[in-house]
Amino acid sequence: GGEELATVYDEALDEGFGLVASNVAEPNVMMGLVEGADRMNSDLLLQLSGGACKFAGNGDPVAGLKAMGTYIETIADQYDIGVFLNMDHQTDLEFIEQQIELDIPSSIMIDASHEPFDENVATSREVVEMVEAADSDILIEAELGQIKGVEDEIEAEEAFYTDPEQAVEFVEKTGADLLAISVGTQHGVAKGKDLELRPDLAHDIRQALKDHGLDTPLVLHGSSGVQPDQLQEMLKHGICKVNKDTRYQYEYTRTAYDLYRETPDAIVPPEGVEDARDTFFNETEWSPDKSVFDPRV
Ligand code: G3H
Ligand code: 13P
Ligand code: NA
Ligand code: ZN
Repeated sequence: GGEELATVYDEALDEGFGLVASNVAEPNVMMGLVEGADRMNSDLLLQLSGGACKFAGNGDPVAGLKAMGTYIETIADQYDIGVFLNMDHQTDLEFIEQQIELDIPSSIMIDASHEPFDENVATSREVVEMVEAADSDILIEAELGQIKGVEDEIEAEEAFYTDPEQAVEFVEKTGADLLAISVGTQHGVAKGKDLELRPDLAHDIRQALKDHGLDTPLVLHGSSGVQPDQLQEMLKHGICKVNKDTRYQYEYTRTAYDLYRETPDAIVPPEGVEDARDTFFNETEWSPDKSVFDPRV
């Protein structure tokens, strides 16, 4: 639940590690990630986008959330590590209301970062109030600034870096538990070589928050492809949640395609899928670093 996840973020801020938050839409990648995190003896945050919920629910996002929520919980019970669920880049307040009512996720990200500042504040605040009204311990992540690239239903042509003073105002006005910032990463497979990472800006945002007595954990989206040393630099500045979608989904899917191409007679899904899953488990280079998997794309 949210309360237990909050203590992991407290530890992350104290110890300077980042919790990987990786997207899933089906059981294979999910099991690979749980297995990988277990090998590193690290807690893990799995996340579902709106599109992933629709996919898993065959068009019905609530069905998809229930199905994946149950699947994740059942598998996670077999492991000693903490496995948490975050709802990634949510935009539909009605669906968020259902998520809170079902009490399945530990955290929810409301993404109104494409809206002007005041509307972003109002929408994000509304979600925080929904959680408070339900007396729920679900944590709320909100985003200020804009990350270039495509992530499920969110698409941005341009990057807008987060302003430190606005970040303070945003957190104070919304009451968000976590703040996603834009400091030069990009979403998706098409991210350019033109990544202009700004750990200095992450530092300024963290400092501005601290100056106002705020110890808000920061979130880095678009972390696939960020080099380990660059990521470690970010982790020094209050980044506690490291979002990765492309990296592991790509790795599993490539593995599966390659296996199917090599063994066209593997016609029963479990045959090919189990081989792909084993290869994904065994050949993926999980990072030796305690809580951050190998961040290469
Ligand atoms: O990855 C997270 C940290 O290792 C905290 O783990 O809460 O299971 O001690 P823990
Ligand atoms: P990448 O796919 O670029 O790693 O981004 C993941 C993300 O930010 C999910 O919210
Ligand atoms: Na644990
Ligand atoms: Zn994202």
